[in-house]
Amino acid sequence: MSKDGTNALERFLSDLESLFSVTPQEVREIMFHFHEEMRRGLAGGKSSLKMIPSFVGRPKGTEKGDFLALDLGGTNVRVLAVALDGNGNATLAAVSRFVIPSETIGGAGDKLFDFIVDCIQSFLKEHHAGMPQAYDLAFTFSFPVVQRSVSSGELICWTKGFTASGVEGKDVVALLAEALQRKGMKSIHVAALANDTVGTLVAKSYADPSCDVGVIIGTGTNACYPEKVARISRLPELRASGEMIVNIEWGGFDKLKTNVYDNLLDLSSNNAGRQKLEKMVSGMYLGELARLVIVEMIQKRLLFTEKSLPAFSVAYALTTEHLSMTAHGSDFFDDFGLADVQEADRQTIREICRIVSTRSARIAAAAIAAVVAWMDADLESNHTVAIDGALFEKYPGFQDNMTDMLFGVFGDRAKKIKLELAKDGSGIGAAIIGAVAASARQ
Ligand code: GLC
Repeated sequence: MSKDGTNALERFLSDLESLFSVTPQEVREIMFHFHEEMRRGLAGGKSSLKMIPSFVGRPKGTEKGDFLALDLGGTNVRVLAVALDGNGNATLAAVSRFVIPSETIGGAGDKLFDFIVDCIQSFLKEHHAGMPQAYDLAFTFSFPVVQRSVSSGELICWTKGFTASGVEGKDVVALLAEALQRKGMKSIHVAALANDTVGTLVAKSYADPSCDVGVIIGTGTNACYPEKVARISRLPELRASGEMIVNIEWGGFDKLKTNVYDNLLDLSSNNAGRQKLEKMVSGMYLGELARLVIVEMIQKRLLFTEKSLPAFSVAYALTTEHLSMTAHGSDFFDDFGLADVQEADRQTIREICRIVSTRSARIAAAAIAAVVAWMDADLESNHTVAIDGALFEKYPGFQDNMTDMLFGVFGDRAKKIKLELAKDGSGIGAAIIGAVAASARQ
């Protein structure tokens, strides 16, 4: 490449780095706005943070029993059998995963629920000879739901690309119960409904009482924490003392500095103007952000050749798994029909992936910093943050980038915050919530 070309490339990449930068000072500002939105959300005012009361607190570790758990939140349905021994130990006795066809994600709502019930039936056939006499089922439903009780709640709006019709505004437990009826599975009782973040927090705190934040950083992103009931003023009927877990729905936070790629992505999404933080952080969107950068660079002749443009013109063709491959030192060029890629182009791609994923980790850290500081402004106590999701678990360097930002913001006090992987937490946690709900019924 000519000297000018090299300079143009360097300039582009350095501008890109600034467009995606997040400094510790900016994180402090984000935290300030986050707290304002939390306050407004808890009071039931207009806020980009929904702050949804879950009607459950953290468990005691003494909950017992065998449960079925159903987990719907991304492109898979998972069915799990969970055994709780009453001593803080939860065992995953069996688990099956089913891919939801894209026409079901975007089709009629009752077909989606029929599909879910088919998954439960296949699971029971495989793992339990014959039909069970009776089961309590805990339903992890990882979308924003206005919870009415521990076992009912209406979907506010779909996120993460789901568009199934006739579900928004409806009680999803009632829809599931109707589908169970339709398929003749009357022996299954839906005992609990939980967001995946709430499940994750409950599962981890079953054994570790210092756990007080549950986070998902996967296809979507969100968190929950235990709030003093007295501070949840949007529910004036809750006069009780004690705590209740609040699902923040932080994916909706909209007080962030966006750039041209964020705006392009948002405008062409099926939920424009919503889930602003999620679109900058979660696994569903990072590949798309990188793709938008790559397309511009090809058009400006800074990357590959013009012939490669059609391969990158398909929205969402580049996934976060592809980005993760570059961070692992391999590449995704085969999937895009690119042969003989120049070393300089490989390096440029690695840079783009690094820039996009680093910002994601920093914003995720900013949101965690805000939640922890909300509960404990001077970081006097230890806080275990239970985190599930493939982006956090598998993306090389992601966890380190988060930790670096926490130290950038809190200095040495950041040692009080432990980020811990909590695999399968959402299903196990829902089962624990189911156990609490079932014992309350007796
Ligand atoms: C989306 C959903 C939220 C869920 C998160 C992680 O943000 O709205 O409810 O917790 O994804 O799955």
